[in-house]
Amino acid sequence: MDAELADVLDTCWRLLGRGAADRRSPMHTPVVASVDADGRPQARVMVLRAADRATARLRFHTDARSPKCAELDGAAVAVTLYHPGEAIQLRLAGAARVVTDGAEVDRIWAAATDFARRAYLVEAAPGTPLPGPGSGLPAGVDGRKPEAPELVPARANFALVMLDIGEIDWLHLAQDGHRRALFTLGDGGWAAGWCVP
Ligand SMILES: Cc1cc2nc3c(=O)[nH]c(=O)nc-3n(C[C@H](O)[C@H](O)[C@H](O)COP(=O)(O)O)c2cc1C
Repeated sequence: MDAELADVLDTCWRLLGRGAADRRSPMHTPVVASVDADGRPQARVMVLRAADRATARLRFHTDARSPKCAELDGAAVAVTLYHPGEAIQLRLAGAARVVTDGAEVDRIWAAATDFARRAYLVEAAPGTPLPGPGSGLPAGVDGRKPEAPELVPARANFALVMLDIGEIDWLHLAQDGHRRALFTLGDGGWAAGWCVP
């Protein structure tokens, strides 16, 4: 890979790392797209929780009962991010895995705030119809910070979505000429090339 493409790849991972670490980054909330059982595209915003360059892996959190889990687990997934300040779009493609058990899930759950954990107390799967507007939370914890014992049942609903990135499509918009590069991860590391924007 030439030096200019290597710089672009560095930028991609810098922006992804910042997107995960900084909730004010526009790359903190990418769109994650999958395909449902009927072959229809499904796209939704998810918070980017971690981006690790060494493993080319992204991490998201979700409710294990949500329809997206079945769509994402073991499937090809696309993630789109846009940084207006940098005028950079990243389109990532990879393979996802949903993880609900194990030391890593336990560690991340233990580090979450009580308010974040409360979201996983909703009584029915996300998307379940309600008779009227509502949070879906048990009446007792709606509108207040739950106590630790009340959060115990929420753990079973917490899932990590791990996404192994295999391809990065970088697009930079500029008045003096747009630029686009494609990075593909193979056995020998990242291969790169320019393409027409
Ligand atoms: C700013 C923002 C951040 C969100 N972050 C997450 C998230 O991290 N995990 C998640 O499961 N849903 C998140 N959502 C909700 C999803 O976009 C979606 O509405 C919900 O998870 C249901 O998706 P599904 O029906 O495809 O399972 C977020 C929504 C917004 C607007």
